[in-house]
Amino acid sequence: MIARVRRWLGGAEPAFSEARIGDAPALAALHAASFQRGWSDAEFEHLLLDRNVVVDCATYGRQLAGFIMSRYAADEAEILSVAVSANWRRCGLAGRLLALHLRKLAGLRVQRVFLEVDEGNAAACRLYRGAGFREVGRRIGYYSEHATPGAAALVLRCDLA
Ligand SMILES: CC(C)(COP(=O)(O)OP(=O)(O)OC[C@H]1O[C@@H](n2cnc3c(N)ncnc32)[C@H](O)[C@@H]1OP(=O)(O)O)[C@@H](O)C(=O)NCCC(=O)NCCS
Repeated sequence: MIARVRRWLGGAEPAFSEARIGDAPALAALHAASFQRGWSDAEFEHLLLDRNVVVDCATYGRQLAGFIMSRYAADEAEILSVAVSANWRRCGLAGRLLALHLRKLAGLRVQRVFLEVDEGNAAACRLYRGAGFREVGRRIGYYSEHATPGAAALVLRCDLA
């Protein structure tokens, strides 16, 4: 199925754009498919209405393939979520979204970006480290629902300035 979708779209390039309020249901659906605890349409609407929240999307045609979201205040930002549809993983899409997003945050005068990531999330850790994020903290046992008791959240930081 995945291979068929990719073949059908051939070498199509994704379109990148900022999310709008009408994207809330698609964002919530992709988030729910990507995380144990999903966020509702209403929660996404609330975030999209927040002037300090930036959400970048990647789409193929009308299909949402990935998004990244952060909240900024003064010269700091925190990445709240990033997800790519299972159909489009390992194609470099999250890397492109993250690079675009960091450029946008830099344009908003953000100098430092933080995030929390499950230390067992190999894909996400590789994504962030590849973009220049470095570990600045470790919260042991942060993920209580995790299959591995004591699994830690890594606090990562990237300096843009
Ligand atoms: C994490 C996620 C966004 C990565 O999206 P993606 O588009 O597949 O990532 P990319 O193709 O841009 O790959 C980024 C890096 O991670 C690596 N990677 C991707 N999937 C991987 C996996 N399953 N295992 C190990 N490394 C992986 C890639 O090789 C690449 O590293 P490189 O640049 O050194 O080659 C995606 O797996 C996802 O949506 N996961 C579920 C939600 C999630 O965990 N979000 C992060 C929460 S902090």
